[in-house]
Amino acid sequence: MPAPWSPDSWRSKPIVQVPDYPDAAALAAVEGRLATFPPLVFAGEARQLTKALGEVAEGRSFLLQGGDCAESFLEHRADNIRDFFRVFLQMAVVLTYAGGVPVVKVGRIAGQFAKPRSSPFEKKDGVELPSYRGDIINGAEFTSESRIPDPQRQLQAYRQAAATLNLIRAFAQGGYADLERVHQWTLGFIKDSPQGRRFEELASRISETLEFMRACGITAENTPQLRTTNVYTSHEALLLGYEQAMTRLDSTSGDWYATSGHMIWIGDRTRQPDHAHVEYFRGIRNPIGMKCGPSLEPDTLLKLIDVLNPNNVAGRLTLICRFGSDKVESHLPKLVRAVEKAGRKVVWSCDPMHGNTISAANGYKTRPFERILKEVDTFFAVHRAEGSHAGGIHVEMTGQNVTECTGGAVAISETDLSDRYHTHCDPRLNADQSLELAFLVAERLKTERGARAPHEASIAAAE
Ligand code: PEP
Ligand code: CO
Repeated sequence: MPAPWSPDSWRSKPIVQVPDYPDAAALAAVEGRLATFPPLVFAGEARQLTKALGEVAEGRSFLLQGGDCAESFLEHRADNIRDFFRVFLQMAVVLTYAGGVPVVKVGRIAGQFAKPRSSPFEKKDGVELPSYRGDIINGAEFTSESRIPDPQRQLQAYRQAAATLNLIRAFAQGGYADLERVHQWTLGFIKDSPQGRRFEELASRISETLEFMRACGITAENTPQLRTTNVYTSHEALLLGYEQAMTRLDSTSGDWYATSGHMIWIGDRTRQPDHAHVEYFRGIRNPIGMKCGPSLEPDTLLKLIDVLNPNNVAGRLTLICRFGSDKVESHLPKLVRAVEKAGRKVVWSCDPMHGNTISAANGYKTRPFERILKEVDTFFAVHRAEGSHAGGIHVEMTGQNVTECTGGAVAISETDLSDRYHTHCDPRLNADQSLELAFLVAERLKTERGARAPHEASIAAAE
């Protein structure tokens, strides 16, 4: 029998990565207000996403999850959201059309504000201050004032998440995602880049297909899937006081749901089985993710799966693997074997970002694009060898023309990094690099499908 759970039962467990709020009464007042605010997402939507991810777990769909490392209050602008949305849709269309699989689209957006840090302090020119922990907690500016955790920021984060989600829903459902507009999604600055041209070719093939379908009587008017799409939201649920305040009992099912986003995940630094984050996550019914880094051993993983997905629901749990391009080959197979042998249904997703961060010679934190591609490639190869399904990718990306990760077809060098290095936290793929990655994954998916087809045919023949 599992121990009783309540939205606040995490408070009696050990916890790491918590901010030190100086005014407990002010914090409690904010959490009390949040608890009265409308939910950002609806339990029915979370269930729909679990179902869609169940298809991924069964090998019939692919998960595309991506967005900022950390959303920022300062850069909350419609054009930033729109540009992210355009690239994200382009990636999804590349995967769907060139890879030939349905794609479940989950943004790291509308709530991705809290950041775990490797050190609680940051030192600059001999001055030491508490680390920046994301805009929902404190300010990025390097002053002692700005680094004090301020609970009022949680209200601003809630409002920003609501406005962002509103625009995403409008884009997804209101005509922007209409496949007829596929040519218009390309951002001006990548039109003439190799990936931009490659996308234009693919978009022309899609337009041709749509024309053919129209001639057969299949149009956006009678087939809404051509006109609208579902884009879900996700974030790392690190700040548990905020999450608890946004946890609501769903009246139709009688279950508890996190209503701060459709999917939430546990970071690599906070997944200790007996700690607060795992305690909170086990009680909510949303689809959840868990980051799996090099320190995770198979027996701990199986223990965590037992706690987080005791009923073995396909789509409930996504394992987001982030080992590093040089470690994935030695760490992933043993986890895949243990999970598959135990018959546990999970989505295997690849985060090729967080294990591949390095410091450039000029001090910039960066991620070499070839390492990112290599991690994805090895991830697919491991799953092919183990007979499991490479279910998704999880990336930090932006629609802005930034220079944060080195390499790619429009080769960004270490000296280029200073040109447009805008991230608040980790380096992100720019639009061009995001598309290049999508094309690579699409190729791998096609190979995977090709490799599986004869096997499926032989099963069908035996039935
Ligand atoms: C992140 O996704 O931004 C992050 C901090 O990841 P991880 O928990 O894998 O380090
Ligand atoms: Co990050």
